[in-house]
Amino acid sequence: MNDLIQNTEKLHTTELGAIRIQKNLGIDADDIVEWCKETIKQANIIIGQGKNWYAYGNGIVITVNAHSNTIITANKINAKVRTMEKSDYACLNEFLYQAIFIPDGEKLPPRTIINDPEIFIYIKDFGNKSGDLGVVAEQNGQVVGAAWTRIISAYGHLDNSTPELAISILPEFRGYGIGTKLMNKLFELLKENGYRQTSLSVQKDNPAVRFYQRLGYEIAQEKHDHVGHEDYLMIKAL
Ligand SMILES: CC(C)(COP(=O)(O)OP(=O)(O)OC[C@H]1O[C@@H](n2cnc3c(N)ncnc32)[C@H](O)[C@@H]1OP(=O)(O)O)[C@@H](O)C(=O)NCCC(=O)NCCS
Repeated sequence: MNDLIQNTEKLHTTELGAIRIQKNLGIDADDIVEWCKETIKQANIIIGQGKNWYAYGNGIVITVNAHSNTIITANKINAKVRTMEKSDYACLNEFLYQAIFIPDGEKLPPRTIINDPEIFIYIKDFGNKSGDLGVVAEQNGQVVGAAWTRIISAYGHLDNSTPELAISILPEFRGYGIGTKLMNKLFELLKENGYRQTSLSVQKDNPAVRFYQRLGYEIAQEKHDHVGHEDYLMIKAL
């Protein structure tokens, strides 16, 4: 069991801490420490980083000093989006894996699936070709989402002047607006680099189709991928 969960009974905060948490979250709980304990017990994910624990759930992150068990603060999840740097390339393996659509109730594929050449092409030697552009989202110093483009002969390839997009957010961080922020930042980056449109391929039954349409993508073609899934090739003018 996670150390933070084991130590929930020891959690406490200061008077100022309690006021800060109520203000940040817009809540009016009688006992803010009890409220935090319950929220931490139900967290989707708890990450230890530096001297703190971060407990994430229901769109909220609670920060606890791991040494003193003091609840330092709590905030709404609000990831910062920035351009991808070379040092971020190592996390592309994870985000490529997370970008694979798994319909509800289906078993997760093994991590080695990304070594399939049809999939690995999305990150192989990333950074070396024109059209290799990316953005990441960071929450409390941890990269929780990434979106990137390439001009490669993959599922969503249209032509040699249209970078194709891939995106994923870590499962615990989906549905909080991070994907939308990443996409808008990536569109800016593509425009700054002179591109006029971007494409992607998505399985027809992935709920992300709606997400892309909301961001201005239009269905250009219907196709089958190499394992027989029905896909849309979508294009967005920049
Ligand atoms: C699709 C995805 C990148 C969107 O990022 P996000 O931060 O969750 O999105 P936002 O909160 O900005 O927007 C919400 C949209 O995301 C989608 N979404 C939300 N939670 C989701 C989840 N758990 N799984 C899949 N899609 C989800 C919904 O389509 C929603 O759009 P809608 O409100 O118009 O229906 C993200 O959910 C994800 O990583 N999904 C799994 C990987 C994937 O399918 N990648 C695309 C491959 S083509």
